[in-house]
Amino acid sequence: MDITDRPRRLRADGVRDLVSETRLAPADFVVPVFVDATTDERVPIESMPGHERVPVDEAVARVEEVLETGVESVMLFGIPESKDAEGSRAWAEDGVVQRATRAIKAETDAYVIADLCLCEYTDHGHCGVLEPDAAEDPDLTVRNDATLERYAETARSQAAAGADMIAPSGMMDGQVAAIRAGLDEGGFEHVPIMAYAAKYASAFYGPFRDAADGAPAFGDRRHYQMDPANRREAMREVRLDAEQGADALMVKPALPYLDVVRDVRESFDRPVAAYNVSGEYAMLHAAAEKGWLDLDAAARESLLSIKRAGADLIVTYFGERVARDL
Ligand code: PBG
Repeated sequence: MDITDRPRRLRADGVRDLVSETRLAPADFVVPVFVDATTDERVPIESMPGHERVPVDEAVARVEEVLETGVESVMLFGIPESKDAEGSRAWAEDGVVQRATRAIKAETDAYVIADLCLCEYTDHGHCGVLEPDAAEDPDLTVRNDATLERYAETARSQAAAGADMIAPSGMMDGQVAAIRAGLDEGGFEHVPIMAYAAKYASAFYGPFRDAADGAPAFGDRRHYQMDPANRREAMREVRLDAEQGADALMVKPALPYLDVVRDVRESFDRPVAAYNVSGEYAMLHAAAEKGWLDLDAAARESLLSIKRAGADLIVTYFGERVARDL
């Protein structure tokens, strides 16, 4: 045999870790937490085993559970006590995310990232304020520029409550610039923005829409979220957000879009985030429940692959589970 190059030599126990190119750490993960103003008890989310909607009073306890695993950051989503056409509970000083943030920042060391969108707060479930006839005319949906004012207001109120970072997920044009200006005017120039920069109109958000009660009452989000067919367009979206001052750039979902994660890593010098979304989580759980794959191994491999593709940080419902294992 004349084989001089034998890659198997470096796959033996003992040396494999020495030559490992990618490592996961609990500090890479951000765990989403759902705070629900409509309940006094924790409510399990059926399609996302291990996750719950928690009342504001339980937010600190929930975050402490996350911190115990070594994960240091959480992303907060709110289910408000009431909804209206404007989504006004999103920027209320006593809104659900604002109250939870104050409590978490007062009592824990967690790094709190506030998701910023209006879909959980509007009675129609879209991510902003609507054109007058939107329900009748599918070509009319969210009013872009009018929505930006609400986003800026929401960002300010989240920062005033103590949010460490703001993560706008609504995919309105110009949202990063509007939020940056709003934060700066409010004296929050030190608060970074992690932009959901390349966010696709994905079928993988299904379980989340149950969890956060944010499914659109009519139509879908294709007028503002990206077409899954497009890779070049992602670079355009990311470039716009970077130019508007985004401090970190997110791609969402993660696993079906690893080419985009890699593109962003190679073309930009800012931290890259990837959102391993609810559907990516639910499908592994469903398969594992049937005994078709090993959940821990598959979860770990998923997160490792997202990091290998170029993500610096990963928003993931698997955060606690994988962190406990590391
Ligand atoms: C709000 C928002 C969504 C997700 C995060 N922020 C839902 C959507 O855009 O429909 C999805 C997260 C997930 O599926 O885990 N705009």
